[in-house]
Amino acid sequence: MQQKSKNKSNYFYLSNTQRPMLDRADGIYLWDESGNKYIDASSGPIVSNIGHSNPSVIKAMKKQMDKSTFGYRLNFFNEPAEKLASLTASLMPSGLDQIFFTSGGSESVESCIKLARQYAVNTNKEKKWKIISLYPSYHGGTLGALAITGMDPFVDPFSKLMKVMPKIPAATCYLDNDNLSEDERGIKYANLLEEEIIKQDPETVLAFILEPIGGASTGALVPPNSYFKRINEICKKHDILIIADEVMTGAGRTGKFLAGEHWNLEPDIIAMAKGFAAGYAPLGVVAAKNTIVNEINNSGGFLHGHTYAGNPLACSAGLAVLREILSKNLIENAHIQGITLKEKLNQLKNEFSFIGDVRGKGLLVAFELVANKETMEPLPTSMNADTLLVEEAYKKGLIIYSRKTRGGTIGDHFMICPPLVINKKQIDEICLILRECLKNIQSKLNL
Ligand SMILES: Cc1ncc(COP(=O)(O)O)c(C=O)c1O
Repeated sequence: MQQKSKNKSNYFYLSNTQRPMLDRADGIYLWDESGNKYIDASSGPIVSNIGHSNPSVIKAMKKQMDKSTFGYRLNFFNEPAEKLASLTASLMPSGLDQIFFTSGGSESVESCIKLARQYAVNTNKEKKWKIISLYPSYHGGTLGALAITGMDPFVDPFSKLMKVMPKIPAATCYLDNDNLSEDERGIKYANLLEEEIIKQDPETVLAFILEPIGGASTGALVPPNSYFKRINEICKKHDILIIADEVMTGAGRTGKFLAGEHWNLEPDIIAMAKGFAAGYAPLGVVAAKNTIVNEINNSGGFLHGHTYAGNPLACSAGLAVLREILSKNLIENAHIQGITLKEKLNQLKNEFSFIGDVRGKGLLVAFELVANKETMEPLPTSMNADTLLVEEAYKKGLIIYSRKTRGGTIGDHFMICPPLVINKKQIDEICLILRECLKNIQSKLNL
């Protein structure tokens, strides 16, 4: 690929990795300023759910820009925020009709935590403050969200700055070597929550937060069907709130509007972002039970907020995105294309001895590389397979997303999560390039 050289930049891009300058984008494709074309097979970091440069969203945002771009929520209500809150509430589980806007995923998770805590304080449950989460998990980069995140390289350097919260193992059944059925494993992993609650003292436990289907920390880990019913029961029994982190899974990505709907998870509070505004504006959202919000409002209001939250421009984008998801049946398409994508990846798994697992739901799909398919022993970290395959793909104009799987230190998984507008032909195109890349790393790493 031809790329223009980049002058020394003042932009701190997190690391020294060099990337070309983005020029334009359309649907599932992006072009750099040298005219090279890329397939966005991960929707960025699982964000661009409706594809790039959607004309309806652009039109709605332009129309809003001509009217007003910012109106502070303490000074004015605004129509796009009202309409978006109403449409979002109509898609939430019964009772979760109170909608709070933020500017992204971490802000949404922070807001969920603080809403839960203020509810406890306002209802004479001052002793409740601990939030149990899963390991591995990812809930955001701000300190509150990081304290409940289970990914060592992101958490450890900052652990002195926060109160790290208790974790229980995520349901990594694909690594289990036992004689249990899938349902029995689901119950086994859910029961770890009850053990931890008892260990911590139920009177001190405020909430359990989970990504119903794992995101970047586990690579689209899907728990067994039996898991969620047991989680609902345990939380009810011990008076513990369920917070569903649907930042990555929400807004249709997994083939339902919320991933928790696949199993009737009963959350009290839900966080969403990413696909909710699909990259058109920084926007996140929290949906909470009206019983929680009424209690807080009746005691003077929520002691929390972010300046840009609920601004008319971001909400006009979110509203247009949501309308697009619903009118174009993108949730159904995620379900249908997800089946095809997993079939194709399973064919690659049969072909390459070093693909150990293909998993996910809808278009939240990932595969994991291993040294040994039987034992699921990971590849040596010194191979840097996670970055090697991503770079190999990038050279061929295919954008995929990788992370270290098991706590952020070992294991290599790759998320194939294209925009929900994708069709079968485009999935074939992705898998054809991916196959070439896998062949290349096979010979480079001698696998
Ligand atoms: C499940 C989950 N929660 C929270 C976040 C944080 O979102 P943001 O990066 O928008 O702050 C992410 C981001 O990857 C995520 O995947």
